[in-house]
Amino acid sequence: MNCFENKTVLITAGPTYEPIDPVRFIGNRSSGKMGYAIAEELANRGAKVILVSGPSHLKTQHHNIQLLKVETAAQMYQACHQHFAQSQIAILAAAVADYTIENPSAIKIKKKAGENEMTLRLVKTKDILKSLGKIKQKQLLVGFALETNNEQENALKKLKAKNLDFIVLNSLQDQGAGFAHNTNKITILDKDNKISKFELKTKTEVAKDIANYIEKQLKL
Ligand code: CTP
Repeated sequence: MNCFENKTVLITAGPTYEPIDPVRFIGNRSSGKMGYAIAEELANRGAKVILVSGPSHLKTQHHNIQLLKVETAAQMYQACHQHFAQSQIAILAAAVADYTIENPSAIKIKKKAGENEMTLRLVKTKDILKSLGKIKQKQLLVGFALETNNEQENALKKLKAKNLDFIVLNSLQDQGAGFAHNTNKITILDKDNKISKFELKTKTEVAKDIANYIEKQLKL
């Protein structure tokens, strides 16, 4: 039997939007493509997927995917905590805002005559992945790291600090990797210090590599 068939997998994807006022927000360039590709791949392999997605233009019709749309980091945190206990695997691929606006305005902020500067006060969001790492029991927990420098060292720190089983590293130094591209180039670092490097591939193929890696871990 396929090892995903009786598994529930929690996946996060896309950016988050942190509101400044009803018409403006702070967001990021994540497209959601990597997280959606993993969701489709695992759903095709028979998993029941709960996909918690920030604002993304992507759609999914897969009968094995339950799509939960959120906007903010706080809403993504809530949705993940609601579904983690029933999941056997969690893969957090979303680009979550690290800071949010302290006091978003309920009405549109107007320009002020005579003032050339404005200040927005930001406060830290909760780290969803780290919070799941703290409460995980038997779940296999997978994180992502997007780095521009000291890539492996930074990824290893995140793997340990967040109590992950493995972390998928993308370097923005690699051409064709990261946000908005249809391709990605990953390195997987696991908790037993094993490092696996993969070639530049389409995100659909990268999703297959990640699914195969999970399959191997489940069989250990
Ligand atoms: N992550 C999360 N919640 C946050 C921030 C990050 O769940 N508030 C998750 C991401 O989904 C990803 C991993 O943590 O799986 C690493 O995210 P990244 O932004 O690379 O790292 P940070 O821990 O935020 O560190 P830094 O931004 O300082 O590199």
